[in-house]
Amino acid sequence: MTLLDALIRPDRYPRSSRYDPAWLVGLDMGPNPLWLLEDLAADLGLRPGMKVLDLGSGKGATSVFLAREYGVDVVAADWWIPAEDAAAVFAEAGVGDRVRAVRAEAHALPFEAESFDAVVSVDAFEYFGTADTYLPYLARFLRPGGLLAVATPALTREVRDLGTIPPHIERVVGWEAIAWHTPEWWRFQWEITGLVDVTTARHQPEAWQNWLLWTRACAAHQPDGARVHGPVLDMLTEDAGEHLSFTLLTGRKR
Ligand SMILES: C[S@@+](CC[C@H](N)C(=O)[O-])C[C@H]1O[C@@H](n2cnc3c(N)ncnc32)[C@H](O)[C@@H]1O
Repeated sequence: MTLLDALIRPDRYPRSSRYDPAWLVGLDMGPNPLWLLEDLAADLGLRPGMKVLDLGSGKGATSVFLAREYGVDVVAADWWIPAEDAAAVFAEAGVGDRVRAVRAEAHALPFEAESFDAVVSVDAFEYFGTADTYLPYLARFLRPGGLLAVATPALTREVRDLGTIPPHIERVVGWEAIAWHTPEWWRFQWEITGLVDVTTARHQPEAWQNWLLWTRACAAHQPDGARVHGPVLDMLTEDAGEHLSFTLLTGRKR
């Protein structure tokens, strides 16, 4: 069994297991985005025909998955990846008619108010979504009753409570780990606004193991993978599941 085969787990992730792991690893920008999305969508209630914003969609794997698995129409918005590159991924995956790629910065979204039924963000919110003012800004793009879903790296305890970023994490991601919040932190941060009802705030089951399986596969199967992913492998190995996790968060706009 290769390290790519370890990314096919139909018992745990039946939908994600239908995707070629080599394709997915080729679009890598962080730990298995399809597993995160499949876990997140279980709490969400997406229905065919919904208009969904995939915010921080990267190279596009999650947008392909949303269109194929849930029959929704997707706007894939990202800042670092040119829209033409993402559009090529969507065309090749056969969803070019249902997924539109847009280059957009998360604080200057080029959309009408209340134009989405759902906003989904996988492994991106930590870059732009932790400010007190961000949820109120983003919520304006959702219709009343619209759904919000975020998967974002987490620590099992807040950095504030630990008093420091654990050294093995600080060595690899530096101060960025202060944006890796617990489900409880996010629940309070969203609920206090009075704008959304939080429907779930939980850790992804087996988040650390999932992250490790993904990183091992990327290290083995990407050009220069061992060098690029080595530091993250060291971080995960030293962590042994003590601190590193992912938060899954869903809510509904009032
Ligand atoms: C770790 S990558 C994850 C990409 C993709 N969701 C995935 O899981 O493969 C984070 C993404 O967040 C996007 N991002 C970061 N800051 C952003 C911002 N200010 N506005 C819009 N997108 C942003 C980046 O462009 C990048 O594609």
